[in-house]
Amino acid sequence: MGQPGLSAPRVVVGRDLAEAARLGAQEVVARAQAAASLRGRFTLALSGGHTPQALHALLADPVEHFRGRISWAATHVFFGDERCVPPDHPDSNYGAARRSLLAHVPLPASNVHRLRGEDDPLAAAAAYEAELRRVVPVEPGLPRLDLILLGLGADGHTASLFPGTAALDEETRLVVANEVPQVGGFRLTFTFPLIRAARAVAFLVAGEDKAAAVSDVLGGRGARPAARVRLAEGDLTWYLDEAAASRLPAALRRP
Ligand code: 6PG
Repeated sequence: MGQPGLSAPRVVVGRDLAEAARLGAQEVVARAQAAASLRGRFTLALSGGHTPQALHALLADPVEHFRGRISWAATHVFFGDERCVPPDHPDSNYGAARRSLLAHVPLPASNVHRLRGEDDPLAAAAAYEAELRRVVPVEPGLPRLDLILLGLGADGHTASLFPGTAALDEETRLVVANEVPQVGGFRLTFTFPLIRAARAVAFLVAGEDKAAAVSDVLGGRGARPAARVRLAEGDLTWYLDEAAASRLPAALRRP
């Protein structure tokens, strides 16, 4: 599975989504504490869709022991992709994260960096790339986010990098407006150069419907977009529930 010069991903399997999300939340806390103490800032990109809601709930829960262990004043939140809709639209990834996490933690409003889905997509993508370069430490030449959270579609897409779309081949820009026929329009998305520059990337994937894509990506088969998330300098982890991991050989499922 591992490619020469690239670290093999760590695969962590929880009994169910709740446990996989809890394991992922532990990594968010660990990365937040390390980044804040080493660099005075933790830069985190959230993924969209439904799966991360379980993780957001854990991070937001005052009773759980995650919320109080993150320095939210030192945390800057970004979004790996966004639908081209206003923030109050039911499809907005920002809107979903605001309801499930951002409204429940003491994160300064100026530390939330949303993709402006309501603007012209090309302009919004260019503006976001400039904001990333302004806020995220650049090493060397690329903004290096401390942790990028990603999801996976049943077709193997991640962020809004869908099969057969132009953004898959973008090697210069960090954020683009990607025309996605599968969703009938444009999406704003991180590109692979930005994802690959991260200190850490963590996928959180759950459900039987994702098992084939997970098996193909981790087994090095086929051309699923998520298979192109390879880190030369960062840590890549897949947090799966048993259903999403159900087609993985034992060798790929580290304890
Ligand atoms: C989005 C996401 C997308 C998502 C996958 C999985 O905006 O939809 O960024 O990449 O992570 O489609 O979505 P679910 O978690 O809803 O299955």
